[in-house]
This record gives sequence, C-alpha cells and structure tokens, in this order.
Amino acid sequence: MTKYLVAGGRRLSGTVQVHGAKNSVLPILAATLLSGGECVIENCPRLSDVAASIRILEHLGCQVVHRGGTVWVDASHPLRGDVPDELMREMRSSVIFLGAILARLGEGTISYPGGCELGPRPIDLHLKALRRLGAEVEERFGTLHCRTPVLTGCEIDLSIPSVGATENAILAACGARGTTTIVNAAREPEIVDLQRFLVTLGARVRGAGSSVITVEGGRPLHGGCFRVMGDRIVAATYLSAVAAAGGEAEISGVDYRHLATVTAALQEAGCRVSSEPDRIAIRAQGRLRGLRPIRTAPYPGFPTDAQAVLMAAMCTAEGATVFVENIFENRYRHVDELARMGADIRVEGRVAVVYGVPRLHGAPLHCTDLRGGAALAVAALGAEGESTISGLEHIRRGYEDLKGDLAALGADIRQTDT
Ligand code: UD1
Repeated sequence: MTKYLVAGGRRLSGTVQVHGAKNSVLPILAATLLSGGECVIENCPRLSDVAASIRILEHLGCQVVHRGGTVWVDASHPLRGDVPDELMREMRSSVIFLGAILARLGEGTISYPGGCELGPRPIDLHLKALRRLGAEVEERFGTLHCRTPVLTGCEIDLSIPSVGATENAILAACGARGTTTIVNAAREPEIVDLQRFLVTLGARVRGAGSSVITVEGGRPLHGGCFRVMGDRIVAATYLSAVAAAGGEAEISGVDYRHLATVTAALQEAGCRVSSEPDRIAIRAQGRLRGLRPIRTAPYPGFPTDAQAVLMAAMCTAEGATVFVENIFENRYRHVDELARMGADIRVEGRVAVVYGVPRLHGAPLHCTDLRGGAALAVAALGAEGESTISGLEHIRRGYEDLKGDLAALGADIRQTDT
C-alpha cells in the first residue's frame, strides 16, 4: 500500500506554484464536446479526475492527448451519447457531461451518479434545468436517458446556486435556440473560467461571476486554445500548511481575490498575509489564535472545500474555533482522524467546535475523502513526531503532487510502498 510518511515539526519556507484548477478543468473538458473541433487546454493538472474525464471523452469518440500540462481534444468526429456506468462511477461530477452531450447530440444516456463520500449528491436541479430547456428525462434503474428534438432558450431559476447545475445549464443552453437566462446562478470563479472558455469557442455567454447568466444559444462553435485558472483550493491547502507548521512561503499561480475569505481567516489567526495579483505570501510565527465562526457558503463565502484544511491548522490554535458546514451533510469525516493525533473536536450535525490543544502528535492516518485527506497532511506537518497517511487515491483526485509541493517548501514528507 502506498503511504505518505510525514515527520512533523519542521518550519516551511520557499515558493510553490499551484496547478490548474480541477473544478475548472472538468467542465471545460466536457465543454470541448460543443466545439466540434480541436481544443487545446493549457495548465491542465494530472489528476485522476482529469484522467477519468479524458476516458469519458475518448469513449464518446474524441481523440485526446494529455502531455505535460496540455490536453488536446479533437471533438470533430461523429460522437456517441452514452457514458457507461463504470466511467460514471469513477467521478461523481461526470454528470456535467450530460448538458454538453445534449447540446451536441440532442440525446444522451448516463447512469445516475448516486451518493459520494460527502453524503447524498442529488442532481434534481441539473435535471430541472435540462427539462426547462425542453429535454425529456427518463430515469430508470439508475440510468438517465435524456432526449430532445430541440432545446429552446428559457429562464432557469435555481433554488440553490449549485455549481454543477449552473455549469450543466450553461452547456446545454449553448445548444439551445434563443436566449437562456440562469437566475440564482452559482458565482464561483470556475464558472467564470468556463464562460471564458466558451467565449473562446465563439459562444455568447455573459454574466458569470454574478447571479444572473445569459446564454445566447444556437451559434456554431469552433475549436480554441485556453489556459485554465490556478486552483484556489490547492492554494488554500498550502497556506494552511504554512499556518500549521509555521514558516514563510509564497504561493504563486493563483488569483488572490479567489481566496479572500481564506486569507482573511488566516490573518485573523495571526498569520501575516500579503497578496499580489497572481501570488500570496504568508508568514506564520508562534501559536495561531482561534477564529470567529467559519461558516461555509457558496462563493464569495468561505469555500466548503477549504473547511478541512483550515480546521487542521486550527487544531493547535489558542482558543476554540466553530465551523458550520452549510453545503454538504457529511463533511467532517476527517475529524476522527485528527482526533487520533490528539485534536479536541466536537461535532454535532453541521457544527464542529475545535478546541485548540498545545500540540498534535504523529499517528497512523487514513484519508476519508479528497480535502479531508489533504487536511491530514496539513495536520501532520504541524504535529510532533511521525505520521503515516494511507488512502492516497483520494488525494490524487485533486492534487497533482501534494508530496512534491510540500517537500519543495521544506517539509519532511516521503512516499513508501509497503
Ligand atoms: C462543486 C465542486 C465541489 C464543491 C462544491 C461546492 C466541482 C467538480 N465540484 O460540486 O468541489 O465542494 O461545488 O462549492 O466543481 N444540490 C442539490 N441538487 C442538485 C445539485 C446540488 O440539492 O441538483 C445541493 C448539494 O447537495 C449541495 C449544494 O447543492 O448541498 C451545492 O452543491 P453544488 O454546488 O452542486 O456542488 P457540486 O457542483 O456537486
């Protein structure tokens, strides 16, 4: 079994560049289907979720090459519209392909994504949006069959600003006749990146970043070249690692504005943070201080994906910090692992209270999910003694080289195969 071996207690220092954003590249890869041509996606990270998306594109009939940080997708050939169950199961967010398949082919079949490690993963809002556009959706024995003679522009009012449903609606609306307005759209930076990519392909999409997005559909699209934005959650992880272990580092390749709530929390905890447009410098000295409650919320609120890594840093703060998880039901699975290291955390429903302890100690740890796994690495760097971390397949979904990046900052982290 592959594990990380982490010897904690070393201060971090240096510079690290974050890779392209997972949550940006996944819908962009789905969107290449709409181009009917050749797309070049730069700053594309080597992640297992990206590999899963590429397998879906290849199954659908695209030719794909991923070399270095660049992915070439040739979507000019006739395509099929079904995604088999085994490919759907590899990645929960594969439902994002449905809107793109419908826009390109007018018909598609995928299996129901089901639940995941964060709890139930409903797709009712995705389906409601597609139905509003005119798709007939049939759900049978875990399979979803969608078909439409023609997609028609309309108003889609999302009851929750779901990231995936907003993306699916944008993609399908590109293939619809007329104008679609998405109201209460998610405002995440990754949606702005998707809009930029679609505009590169010739689409008319406006408003991403605000809660009203307009798509003038039915335009012929073409191939194009695009560079994916930096991953704000990877950046939040490395900032939290420096906060936990102490030290001084610069995180580059990310837009500091995307991390405003995370850097504000770290400053409140006592870190010195300074930002330039594409880099963030952090200095952490001495013990962190407990924070006012951290409530996860849709962007521009505090990101649920950064909750676990910040919590790992706050385990050894002076005083208590309350976390309120408002997005996913089951997002405290890392807490039991942190408790193995001596963390004092009480969970009740959506609320976790972290009572800071003077120090954590190394322990054998197991990743329960992607960001929870990264949080264990953050905690282990700040702990006394050695930790082992197993279940690294979770981490590979979202970090190209967590070990290498942390080692570049001076962490004592190695990989073993036992
Ligand atoms: C995306 C991100 C994920 C992040 C999340 C919230 C990707 C690939 N993943 O996931 O990393 O944690 O946004 O920022 O971009 N919901 C429904 N019905 C639906 C869809 C969602 O009830 O049809 C609910 C969900 O259960 C959840 C909330 O809406 O409680 C937000 O989910 P959503 O924004 O859709 O998250 P994802 O797009 O799945």
